[in-house]
Amino acid sequence: MSKKFTVTPWKVEGDIDYNRLIKEFGTEPLTDELLARLRRNAGGELHHFLRRKIFFSHRDLKWLLDEYEKGNKFYLYTGRGPSGNTHIGHLIPWIFTKWLQDRFDAELWFQLTDDEKFLFNEKLTMEETNRMAYENALDIIALGFRQGKTFIFSDLDYSKTLYRQALKVAKKLTVSTAKAVFGFKDSDNVGEVFFTSVQSVPAFLPSVLKGRNVPCLIPYAIDQDAHFRVTRDITPKLGYYKPAAIHCRFLPPLTGPGGKMSASVAETAVYTTDPPETVERKIRKYAFSGGRDTISEHRKKGGNPDVDVSYQWLTFFEENDEKLKKIHDDYVSGALLTGELKQILIDKLTAFLKRHQENREKARKVLDRFVLKD
Ligand code: TRP
Repeated sequence: MSKKFTVTPWKVEGDIDYNRLIKEFGTEPLTDELLARLRRNAGGELHHFLRRKIFFSHRDLKWLLDEYEKGNKFYLYTGRGPSGNTHIGHLIPWIFTKWLQDRFDAELWFQLTDDEKFLFNEKLTMEETNRMAYENALDIIALGFRQGKTFIFSDLDYSKTLYRQALKVAKKLTVSTAKAVFGFKDSDNVGEVFFTSVQSVPAFLPSVLKGRNVPCLIPYAIDQDAHFRVTRDITPKLGYYKPAAIHCRFLPPLTGPGGKMSASVAETAVYTTDPPETVERKIRKYAFSGGRDTISEHRKKGGNPDVDVSYQWLTFFEENDEKLKKIHDDYVSGALLTGELKQILIDKLTAFLKRHQENREKARKVLDRFVLKD
């Protein structure tokens, strides 16, 4: 039976079969062999997102490591569409990007697509998306990216530099390709069709600015892949490397295992600025449970961690493999009840967010030192 699901840059819905996406998008699975090589180069350890295959797919990672082993270091590129407040699902690729920055001593170029969110969202004004860009930047800085090696830019405020490069991409991209890749219709606005040219730019901009080709690795949630299929087609035509990529799954929404968390449906998401009471209330009230209807039935038959959102979230936020395994096994055996599992998650997440919120406030003072404008 083939289940129905959708994964595009603008819509993620249904129960996602990630292996099928590898086939449909033409990416490569992250094999154990490649992970071992990544571990060696990362100084002997793998991030738990890799150990647990939360990052599950890639493009050209072998090539990137070949270059790295020859001494040709790469930079990182990722981004955020500032359509609203940051929720913890957004943090997943960024937390991993921070690990990569530390392990590989890499620059990070971080794009805030306030232009995109203006074009694609009926209601948002440019002033709002631009303001949100800098609110979101606080969450990025709060994760601990290195000053002097991390360059965060709003498309609107870095447009002089970006536009010239975006034009080069646009000149190589036909409307029919954009339609085929993104499914645009004639009733869509022309800005939407053009936009992917802007998202391509940071995949080669540092090479332009440094005057030499530098390999690029883009960590992103798999929904963004369409953009980078286009990018990888075009950068060689402009004389630059194809960017390599590494892809993650979505943190499931609180309300159920399918799809991704939506910033516009408040109860399915935990925001980075939610106070502890809100986090606790949302998890208690909405976190989809894989437990049984009654305590005695749960004790007898045990719960199902595969559909239990609290457990699923812990696979993202509990770094310790042994602790996670014990939670898993206790839930399956029935020793651990749903309410107790939720409490473990609440404790973990509120501790994480307390630290994050402190760092986020501190980030206001140093924002200028991270931001590029022209
Ligand atoms: N389009 C992305 C979004 O809506 C933002 C983005 C821009 C991005 N460049 C990126 C995401 C590079 C991942 C990698 O969220």
